[in-house]
Formats: sequence, structure tokens, C-alpha cells
Amino acid sequence: MRILVTGGAGFIGSNFVRHLLEKGGDRIVNLDLLTYAGNLENLAGLEDHSDYRFVRGDIGDAGLVADLMAAESIEAVVNFAAESHVDRSIDGPRLFLETNIMGTQTLLDAARAACVARFLQVSTDEVYGSLGSEGKFTEESPIRPNSPYAASKAAADLICRSYCHTYGMPVLITRCSNNYGPYQFPEKLIPLMIANALVDSRLPVYGDGLNVRDWLFVEDHCRALDLVLREAEPGSVYNIGGDNEMQNIRIVKLLLGILGKGESLIEFVKDRPGHDRRYAIDAGKLNRDLGWEPAHSFEDGMKATVQWYLDNKQWWEKILSGAYRDYYDRMYGSGGRHGA
Ligand code: NAD
Ligand code: TYD
Repeated sequence: MRILVTGGAGFIGSNFVRHLLEKGGDRIVNLDLLTYAGNLENLAGLEDHSDYRFVRGDIGDAGLVADLMAAESIEAVVNFAAESHVDRSIDGPRLFLETNIMGTQTLLDAARAACVARFLQVSTDEVYGSLGSEGKFTEESPIRPNSPYAASKAAADLICRSYCHTYGMPVLITRCSNNYGPYQFPEKLIPLMIANALVDSRLPVYGDGLNVRDWLFVEDHCRALDLVLREAEPGSVYNIGGDNEMQNIRIVKLLLGILGKGESLIEFVKDRPGHDRRYAIDAGKLNRDLGWEPAHSFEDGMKATVQWYLDNKQWWEKILSGAYRDYYDRMYGSGGRHGA
């Protein structure tokens, strides 16, 4: 397939591009604006791959996306491009609405005009809001987003649904739980805690640390997306989750244990406003329909992740120092809309 991957220089997108190119058989065009979260080092080694092309640009640029889809005869779109960090959405919601909602709508219009055969929207379990101590989100759970990030993703998710219902577009929607693994930007819980612990900085745990997330190793997510993209019925929605609920404080202590650091580094800080208490995904539909299940246990996935951050210290040090952005400014000009 000739696939347009958007946001492919971010965490999950770059893992997905690598996954597809390692498998072979597809042409991948990666459209990414290279915001603070996009990093071409995530794709190092792929630059000259004959089945791969990188384009720096905005999913909200209607002319660019239309031209790209025509020039590359795009057959499928996988939309990862988004502002993705809840805390940033609390600080400044507007960009989240522009990128996540209007950007998705622009991409949908272009994909519709280009008559693509598949449009996969990478949504999130956060569209469902927060759970109490019981139950799990199914695809039928009400959409009740709580943060500006989650609301913008829910809007995009529902606009995708409407394009399928109204225009008959072959849309697929996946709602995934929290991912972890290589190339995750060190503002998210797991890489932030690893990076801080390695330099003996404090580990800021929000509130009482008892919030629960359902963690999925990114490679398992990529396999699920690949399967949905190729095998799912147009119009379908799939939850993707690791069946692996964990309190934040347990994760932080686990990481400290793996790294051989003391728990005195933990600092309980002011809670995130509107902090969702618990997410848990029922991914039974994906298992029943397409036979998917996670291949990595949390223990193995965490060990591999910690090892990756140990082996790639330069990668995250450059991010923390801001040095990784200088290259894009030199290569592309400082055209990105988003500062770090
Ligand atoms: P990320 O922040 O690491 O990457 C986002 C990428 O999108 C970056 O490369 C960025 O440069 C690019 N981008 C941002 N605005 C753009 C625009 N206007 N045009 C083109 N590119 C743009 O995010 P991630 O963690 O890899 O998440 C990818 C997708 O998966 C997001 O849509 C997110 O909502 C969803 N998701 C993430 C998780 C998770 O745990 N990380 C869980 C469920 C769903
Ligand atoms: P995060 O990685 O931001 O993902 P999300 O908010 O999308 O689930 O946060 C995961 C959990 O970790 C969430 O409950 C907030 C908490 N958290 C902290 O306690 N400290 C931190 O520094 C960060 C970034 C997150």
C-alpha cells in the first residue's frame, strides 16, 4: 500500500514507520510538522530507504496535503499527528483544537477528495473520560473527555465517524491506552522519570500517585494498528490496551528499583487539574475479530525501555538541552508553529 503517515516523527508514529519499513511491501510518506515533539533522530537510518519519504509540513495545510496525496497516489492515511500532552493542553488549549480537530478535518477532506481506501484515525482511551475503581472502557462506553487534550481528540474521533456515516468514507478509529517504549518524549511519565532518576533529579509524582493507567508497549500498539489498517471493516472502532493497569507510584518505584536509585528522589507535587483517576481498556473486540493480543509483558517491556534510555542517553540529553531543534532550524528554517 502507498501510505501517508502523519506525525511519523513523534513517539508512536516513528515506531510505526520503522515497523512498516522493517516488514516491507509498503511505500511510506511521512508528513510531520516537526513541532517540539517531532524529532528526525527518531527515524535515523531510514533517510535513504527507497520506500520512504519525509515531508515537513502541517496536516492543517489543505493545499500541501492535497498535492502530496495526488503526487504520491496515496491509498491509505494513518493520522498520528497531534498535540499529545495533557499538561500542555491545560496550559494552552487552543493549539490542541487547531491541530487535533481542524488538522484532522483538513486531512479528512483531502483524503476524501483523493478517494483513499483507508483512513485510520489514531484516537485515545482518554476520549472516554475517567473510571471509578470498577469496570473497563469498551467501544460502547460514553465519550466523556475531561482535559482539553482529550476533548480535542474526542472531537476529531467523532468528526472521523461523521465522515464515514455521511460521506461513506472508509474510516477506522483506534482508541489506545498509554504507550511506553523507545523514542517517547521525556515529558511523559515513564521517560521523564527515567531521565530524572539518571541525573538524580527529583521525580515529581502528581497528587497521591494512585492514579491508574493501562500501559501498552509501543511495538504491540504498532502491530495492532497495522492489523486494523489492513483487516478491519471500514467504519469500525477498536480499543487497544495492554491489560496492564498500574498506579503511577508503583511505576516510579519499579523504575527506581531497575535503575538502582533510592526512593528519596520521589517528590509528591500538586495534582494536575482535573486529573483522570483511572483508565482501563477492554480490548476484547480486537482480540475476537482480528486475533490481536499484546506480545510483551510489562516487566519485559519496561526492562527494554529502560535499557533503550540507558543506551541512547545522547538522544534524550539533546532533547532536554534543546539542541535537537537547531538542526531543523538550519535545515528547514524555524517554520514550526510550536515552541518547546
Ligand atoms: P507525539 O507528541 O510524540 O508526536 C506527535 C507528532 O505529531 C510529532 O512528531 C509532531 O511534530 C507531529 N505534529 C504535531 N502537529 C502537527 C501538525 N499540525 N502537522 C503535522 N505533524 C504534526 O505523540 P505520540 O505520543 O506519538 O502520539 C501519537 C498519536 O497517538 C496522537 O494522535 C495521540 O493522541 C495518540 N495516542 C497516544 C498515546 C500515548 O500514550 N502516547 C495513547 C493513545 C493515543
Ligand atoms: P502522562 O504520561 O502525561 O500521560 P496521560 O496523562 O496522557 O495519561 O501521565 C501519566 C500519568 O502520570 C498521569 O496520571 C499523570 C502522571 N504524571 C505524574 O505523576 N508526574 C509527571 O511528571 C507526569 C508527566 C505525569
